[in-house]
Amino acid sequence: MQELLQKLSIYKQEIDAETITSKEALEHFRIKYLGTKGLLKNIMGEMKSVAPENKKAAGQALNEFKMFVEHKYEGFKNGLHKNEETASALDLSLPGTPLPQGTRHPISIVQNKILSIFQRLGFAIAEGPEIEDDWHNFSALNMPQNHPARDMQDTFYINENPAWLLRTHTSSVQIREMEKGNFPLRIICPGRVYRNETISARAHCFFNQVEGLYIAENVSFADLKQTLYFFVQEMFGKEIKIRFRPSYFPFTEPSAEMDISCLICKGAGCNVCKKTGWVEILGCGMVNPNVLENCNIDSNRYTGFAFGMGIERITMLKYQVKDLRLFSENDVRFLDQFLSAV
Ligand code: PHE
Repeated sequence: MQELLQKLSIYKQEIDAETITSKEALEHFRIKYLGTKGLLKNIMGEMKSVAPENKKAAGQALNEFKMFVEHKYEGFKNGLHKNEETASALDLSLPGTPLPQGTRHPISIVQNKILSIFQRLGFAIAEGPEIEDDWHNFSALNMPQNHPARDMQDTFYINENPAWLLRTHTSSVQIREMEKGNFPLRIICPGRVYRNETISARAHCFFNQVEGLYIAENVSFADLKQTLYFFVQEMFGKEIKIRFRPSYFPFTEPSAEMDISCLICKGAGCNVCKKTGWVEILGCGMVNPNVLENCNIDSNRYTGFAFGMGIERITMLKYQVKDLRLFSENDVRFLDQFLSAV
């Protein structure tokens, strides 16, 4: 009996010293201790030779030993499993989890590009309020009350105060800057403008503009043309052609609209340019002397040019976007496409 207990304690020590790091070692352990010809079976056989009065105690000791071995085996097995799991959770060869990346809005991309081109020519950025008064949006721009040209820009008025309105163009910012009286003045005015138009693929009740103004002594139409030509080439590429068509704006005289050769068909004629080979991108002209006088500027000394364009229109041309509404719907499937455009 003593002998048996001693044996068991030696085996226990042996088993305690075991470390299992592979499936093969685990199987080896199982066969060695728990197999049909294993140590446990073997030692159980020794019960036969235990004296009857000791049988109970020996049975208990053997049972304990059996549980000890089985417990050890389970422990090793679970340990191996865990290792396997952590190993697979840490598969360093897996590709990383992609983090969704935000994009700049296409209107911002194009606006920034327009601004940076004019900034390189020495234009400073000027901004003003979106809620304007009649003077800055219309009257000072040579559009007195009841002037028919006001119809061109169907206006949102503000109920609480009919003297206020949502600006219909950023020319109002130009008036504010001219009133400050610092010349020469060379500014570019980006911003959102509002017109009461039915929303469609080609028109919206709000959109974004960039307008430019240059006031100094001896500014001529040639300066205007050269500035806009530079802009167009930087914006769309060196092969782009421009043409000016006479037009009318109350705040410029003479006035013109500028077309660029169609980017899609390169002038051959397609749907985008309505088979003409040209697309209109902006209005411009020499600042009307009445406007200068309205801002207390001596129109005999100073002359200037102004131009204005819709950013949506430029963006539509640059990226071939067919529907203006996409710009304000914030559908990520649309916005995502500009990830590489920045
Ligand atoms: N303010 C005009 C518009 O919004 C654009 C323009 C600006 C035209 C300056 C000529 C000169 O339609």
